[in-house]
Amino acid sequence: SFDELPGRYKVRSLASAEAGRHQIRLAEHEMPGLMALRTEFGPTQPLAGARIAGSLHMTVQTAVLIETLVALGAEVRWASCNIFSTQDEAAAAVVVGPHGSVDEPAGVPVFAWKGESLDEYWQCTEEILVWPGGTGPNMILDDGGDATLLVHKGVEYEAAGAVPSDPQPGEAGYSEEYLVILGTLRRSLAADPQRWTTVAAGIMGVTEETTTGVHRLYQLAEAGQLLFPAINVNDSVTKSKFDNKYGIRHSLPDGINRATDVLMGGKVAFVAGYGDVGKGAAEALRGQGARVIVSEVDPICALQAAMDGYQVARLDDVIDQADFVITTTGNKDVVSAAQMARMKDKAVVGNIGHFDNEIDMAGLAAVPGITRTEIKPQVHEWTFPAGTGDEAAPERSIIVLSEGRLLNLGNATGHPSFVMSNSFSNQVIGQIELFTKPDDYAREVYRLPKVLDEKVARLHLDALGVQLTELTKSQAEYLGVDVAGPYKPEHYRY
Ligand code: NAI
Repeated sequence: SFDELPGRYKVRSLASAEAGRHQIRLAEHEMPGLMALRTEFGPTQPLAGARIAGSLHMTVQTAVLIETLVALGAEVRWASCNIFSTQDEAAAAVVVGPHGSVDEPAGVPVFAWKGESLDEYWQCTEEILVWPGGTGPNMILDDGGDATLLVHKGVEYEAAGAVPSDPQPGEAGYSEEYLVILGTLRRSLAADPQRWTTVAAGIMGVTEETTTGVHRLYQLAEAGQLLFPAINVNDSVTKSKFDNKYGIRHSLPDGINRATDVLMGGKVAFVAGYGDVGKGAAEALRGQGARVIVSEVDPICALQAAMDGYQVARLDDVIDQADFVITTTGNKDVVSAAQMARMKDKAVVGNIGHFDNEIDMAGLAAVPGITRTEIKPQVHEWTFPAGTGDEAAPERSIIVLSEGRLLNLGNATGHPSFVMSNSFSNQVIGQIELFTKPDDYAREVYRLPKVLDEKVARLHLDALGVQLTELTKSQAEYLGVDVAGPYKPEHYRY
């Protein structure tokens, strides 16, 4: 069941708004960056006139982001960027708003609930892009790039005059989700053959949260197909070197514990990928006392993992040892069904990369004789019949978290507020940049200037009691920097 007002909101239950509001209040205390931006920019309202379509996990932390955008003058509509990541009480609280009531909601339109179907997911994404009264958004705030993707695919197919026919299983591009996207666009093309062209023409820019979405943006820009300017929030240092690493260090074990409560200490944990997310994942698992094995394709990251003291191996070679297998690559086809069939009995398998194509869930479901038992929502036991893969193999099962979707948001509540305050401060600053300086940005992908990155970090120091040392004028001259920063050249890697 839902609480919904067509075109205005659709959430699980407004009755949970009060619980959500309490959590938002506590989160505000842990999000000093966002609260400082409210104080700094509230009086000048730089986002007045901005109509922001947001597609980002609808959590308590995101609620604080949404209400910060509103405090700076923006009109906002929101959907989640994953079918399992919404915290229903946060969605309800945002719809009701800080000054509204369950009977008279006065907050932001939200279209999100935990456990959407793929069809519902893309309907919600459409809701944030097609506003009532004939207006549309003039800004997108994206995480993973699905809102941007829908606009770009829509424009492409409108120009072609038709949506391509569905690929068949086994054909290039086939996925259950792609069929849903095609269906969504077919319906919209029938209703309005210029819908996405009109939406795209109104959009001044997008700010993108995550590694995977940023990849998509650079691909579009390189192909000359990017329809509006983009700010890569992910590669602000205060985003990827904090959220992707320290956020995962917190929320990966949180997800595993809430899902399974299986002890990690003493066990073998395999982590695929040693980028920012992999580094946080490996550190967390080691912190719990697990023996961690890492895999990498990049020799630099593989060497880093080795120097950090991890065994670096291929999944195939250690698959029979791992009690936990966690994917963090943002790549596809990292764990195959055949590999899952060779895992230890009751091994826990989960993905924390953005999309669900790292683990071959379709291949798993197609293993002859396999059965799936729901232990609880987002925790499933897959049982291989005796003889799977090897005649002598006994019956055994593995535990798959969040159906292969990002488990820290599916099984837990994502990253904690303090780290998200860093990420979301970059988002807010990115929105202000693109909205207030349209002439400064072409249809390319930009990063925020380093001085703003340093500003985001600065906003979080007091809360941790950090005492920063100040350069003297002569030290600054010696280093060739300004006393007020930026302190590092662009190529510095942190
Ligand atoms: P990254 O690019 O820093 O790291 C990914 C690493 O995986 C790279 O070092 C790459 O060489 C490696 N890799 C690629 N293919 C591989 C393979 N087949 N086997 C082993 N290693 C392989 O990216 P980052 O920032 O660590 O992000 C990874 C994913 O996590 C992305 O999809 C990103 O969007 C997502 N993400 C998820 C978060 C969450 O809360 N769940 C938070 C932040 C990012």
